Amino acid sequence: MSTLSLTPSRIEVMNFIGKDIESDITNYLNPIEENWQASELLPLTSDATFVEDLKSIQEMAQNHSYDLMAVLVADTITEEALPTYETWLAGLTGVDQYNNNVWMKWLRSWTAEENRHGDALNRYLYLCGRIDMRAFEASTQYLISEGFDNGAGSDPYRNFIYTSFQEMATNISHRRVATFAKQDGNNLLSKLCGLVAADEARHAKAYKSFVKRILEIDANELMLAFEDMMRKKIVMPAQCIKELGGTTNLYSNFSMAAQRLGVYTSMDYVDLIKNLLSDWDIENVRNLQENGEKARDFLMNLPIRLARIAERAKPSDEVFRFSWIRA
Ligand SMILES: [Fe+2]
Ligand SMILES: [Fe+2]
Repeated sequence: MSTLSLTPSRIEVMNFIGKDIESDITNYLNPIEENWQASELLPLTSDATFVEDLKSIQEMAQNHSYDLMAVLVADTITEEALPTYETWLAGLTGVDQYNNNVWMKWLRSWTAEENRHGDALNRYLYLCGRIDMRAFEASTQYLISEGFDNGAGSDPYRNFIYTSFQEMATNISHRRVATFAKQDGNNLLSKLCGLVAADEARHAKAYKSFVKRILEIDANELMLAFEDMMRKKIVMPAQCIKELGGTTNLYSNFSMAAQRLGVYTSMDYVDLIKNLLSDWDIENVRNLQENGEKARDFLMNLPIRLARIAERAKPSDEVFRFSWIRA
């Protein structure tokens, strides 16, 4: 069995844990033969009942608040910008797309599962009749075209911390949209968002397990990477969303809608950090160097500090009118 040097490089660590990941990957992915697809959830134009189904989808969509529609569109754009995330992650140290190593296999399979999210949500938006599809499509094109910097560079440690957080955040957002859709009587949208949320939860488990493995063999470097990502703050892709015509500060308007509804709030951000600290048992990580000890202390104190700020944050009541929504 190969062993690692005392101060292993990122590439050594990735190769080392890659061997375990190979057998683990199937625990975090569903077989394609069994996975749900958009066509099972939404009516097909070839269905004999298509016209009636469409009418019912459009009637149901009228039940939702403006804020819920805004959040749903922004969530969909985030999902549709998947090529941005795949190209970013394919460049990580230890991911070798030309030799299709185990990390690249994970990335391809993860992308293939994620790709269904944008497909299904986009199709719902098209059918529901409340969306200006051109405005929505242009926003997606902007995000893919301009790319998005998550602040983690090509470092796998920082990126896996980022994706652990991001998958949990999308789980929360889709899960809550599913709950609100159900309360509004829209079982179809609720089911769709619930299935997407379940995928996100499974993916979060995978990324958290990768970080856990890194922590076991390169704790000090992982701790420094975690501190760095928290100091930079986790940037959501939605923070880069633009509209045709270039409305400024679009994210803060969208974020207000999410906060007003309670779909994703500043307190959720704090809770996600708490969840990561506890899942990785950061408090009890030992054998750190001095800078690693300091990083751990910073991380352990972070939720209390951020909670104080989050408690003061009050979303504005003013509803911003997005170009994506017709009515
Ligand atoms: Fe997704
Ligand atoms: Fe995801």
